[in-house]
Parts: sequence; structure tokens; C-alpha cells
Amino acid sequence: MINNRGSIIIEKLKMEDTSIWTEKYRPSKFEEVVGQDDIVKRVKNLTNSLNIPHLLFAGPAGTGKSTLALIVVKELFGKNWRTNFLELNASDERGIDVVRQKVKDFARTKALESSFKVIFLDEADALTREAQQALRRTMENYTTTCRFIMSCNYSSKIIDPIQSRCVIFRFKLLEKKDIEKRIRFITEKEKLQIDDKAIETLYEVSEGDCRRVINLLQVSSTISTSINQDLINTLITSAKPKDIKVVLEYALSGDFLKAKEKLLDVMLRESISGQDIIKSIQKEIWNLQIDPELKVKLTEKTGEIEFRLVEGSDEFIQLEALLAGFVLAGKGNENGNKS
Ligand SMILES: Nc1ncnc2c1ncn2[C@@H]1O[C@H](COP(=O)(O)OP(=O)(O)OP(=O)(O)O)[C@@H](O)[C@H]1O
Ligand SMILES: [Mg+2]
Repeated sequence: MINNRGSIIIEKLKMEDTSIWTEKYRPSKFEEVVGQDDIVKRVKNLTNSLNIPHLLFAGPAGTGKSTLALIVVKELFGKNWRTNFLELNASDERGIDVVRQKVKDFARTKALESSFKVIFLDEADALTREAQQALRRTMENYTTTCRFIMSCNYSSKIIDPIQSRCVIFRFKLLEKKDIEKRIRFITEKEKLQIDDKAIETLYEVSEGDCRRVINLLQVSSTISTSINQDLINTLITSAKPKDIKVVLEYALSGDFLKAKEKLLDVMLRESISGQDIIKSIQKEIWNLQIDPELKVKLTEKTGEIEFRLVEGSDEFIQLEALLAGFVLAGKGNENGNKS
């Protein structure tokens, strides 16, 4: 069906050779999650009862917290999951009031074929204690119609009244056998060869962060279909600011495609989030040998995109838009200089 959102996304992924593997291989069923055995079992039982309590997922980056939250809502709501699910980032720089307003708006309408909706609040530990108090009151107000799944790196940063309202799950860094299992799964699907030493190295540099492993694997695959330790080693020793500078120089010279290619490469290789990329770009703008007026213009543009990223827009699309903006700004400047 053409008007089915899911299938359009799948079609898009099929067409794009630049699809991001961490999304392509994000588990969509409990059985596909590696490691965290105890957590998966308990969360699965809760989900099967069709009435979950508030959940708090605590633990290091790239270990499956967001992934598990998504599986829970897909299991609970089936085809209606998008309607009954709201994903928010607690570190929204516009403040807790914006977060609470979004919760309110979402909670106002009834859930589709369910007695409650689910709100996933990422990075809950980024909230101040005062903001958490405000959030706690919001949770209380909507407790009959909404369940919260919160995610954080450190549960100690979450105030007791919230902790006591949630069932807490502590995610661990993934073990070597789990990482290996996922690597083997992906390399098989992608028809790649990989040797044991390369797997060992991937595990060591990732320190149990599965996102980093998959990103490194994807970059490796763009260089060779046969992945060994040397290849991985060459990838993990590269300089960041220099790379960002190259991206900007391509964009300003008008070469959008090269800029985009290089940006994707940097993001995957270094496993940097969109927001961190934006920060590096902001820094690098001031080191470029360009007109001060253009620097201001570029900084403005960057701020705008940062705002959209914080709002939760697709990282790569927003960064692409930023590069396109740089290309135009570079062209405008050329004309300005000529006249
Ligand atoms: N336990 C796991 N099993 C299989 N794949 C995993 C697992 N953990 C992470 N991944 C892979 O890594 C990607 C990132 O994982 P996820 O978004 O769940 O991390 P997270 O724990 O929410 O991290 P963060 O704290 O940075 O938000 C997923 O898309 C998936 O491809
Ligand atoms: Mg997450």
C-alpha cells in the first residue's frame, strides 16, 4: 500500500544506499535483543500482561534502552503504536514547560484500542531536580491514561519520588558474546567477511556500546567487504576537528555531495550524535578563513538547525539541510564579493 507510512519508509530504505545500520538493525522484537537477558524477560512479562507500570531504564549508551522501549510499544499497540506513543527528549533546551505541554496535548486525546498511551522520555537525568518535581506532578495528573518509560544514564540523578513510582531496570554494557552475536548477524545479512580478531577489536574499542560497534562496522563495509583488525584500527584513529573542517570547506565551495558524503563518514566512524556534530561545526566556523559576516550568517543557520534537532527531527536530514544552507551561503558570498 502506497499510503502506508511504514512501507514508504521501507521503500525509502531500500532505495537509499546510505541507510544507517543502527536503525536498519534496530531489533523490533524481544527475541532479537542481545544480552540484558533478565531485563528482557521481565519487561516481556510486563508487556504480555498488557498493563505496564511506569518504567525507568538506566544504563550506559548504546545498550538497548530506547530499543526496548520501542519494542514494548510495538508489542502493546501493534499497528496503532505510532498513535499511542510519544517520544520526548527531557533535555529539550526550551525547558520543562515545553515538555509538560507536549505531554498534556498528547494525553488529552484517547488512546486507540487501549486504555492508556505511552510516553517515552529520553535523557531524564538531564532534568534539574526542580524540573523533575514538575515532571512528577505531570506524571501524577495523567497516571490513569499514560504510562511513562524513562531512560537515563544514571538513576542516581533521578529524584526519589520519581524512582519510587517506576519499576527500575539497570542495563549493563554488553558482553563480548552479545556483541559478537550481533556482529555475526549483521555481517551475514550484509554478506561481509569478518575475522575473529576484528570482532575482538570492535568489542574492545566499543567497550560494550552496540551503537558504536554497528557504526564502525558500517564504515568498514564501505571500504572493504572483508573486514580485518587492521582495517578497524585505521578507522578508529582519525582526527575530528579536521574532518569537520573538510566537510565545511566542501560545502562552502559548493560541493554538496562531497560534503554530505564526508559528513556521513565522520558521523558513523566517530559515532557522534547530530548535536555533537553541530557543536563541532559551531567551533570550526570560527576557525575558517572566511568573511566575518559570513561566519555570523553560518552561526545563525547552525543555531536554527540545532533547535530543530533538539526538537527531535531526523538528525541526518537536518544536517543535510544545514550543509545545503552552507552551500547557498557560500554562493551568496561569492556574488557579494564580486559586486
Ligand atoms: N541489546 C541490544 N541488542 C541488539 N542491538 C542493540 C542492543 N543495544 C543496542 N543495539 C543497537 O544499537 C543501537 C542503539 O541502541 P539504543 O538506541 O537502544 O541505545 P540506548 O541504550 O537507548 O542508548 P542512549 O543512552 O545513547 O540513548 C540500536 O539501534 C541497535 O541497533
Ligand atoms: Mg536511547
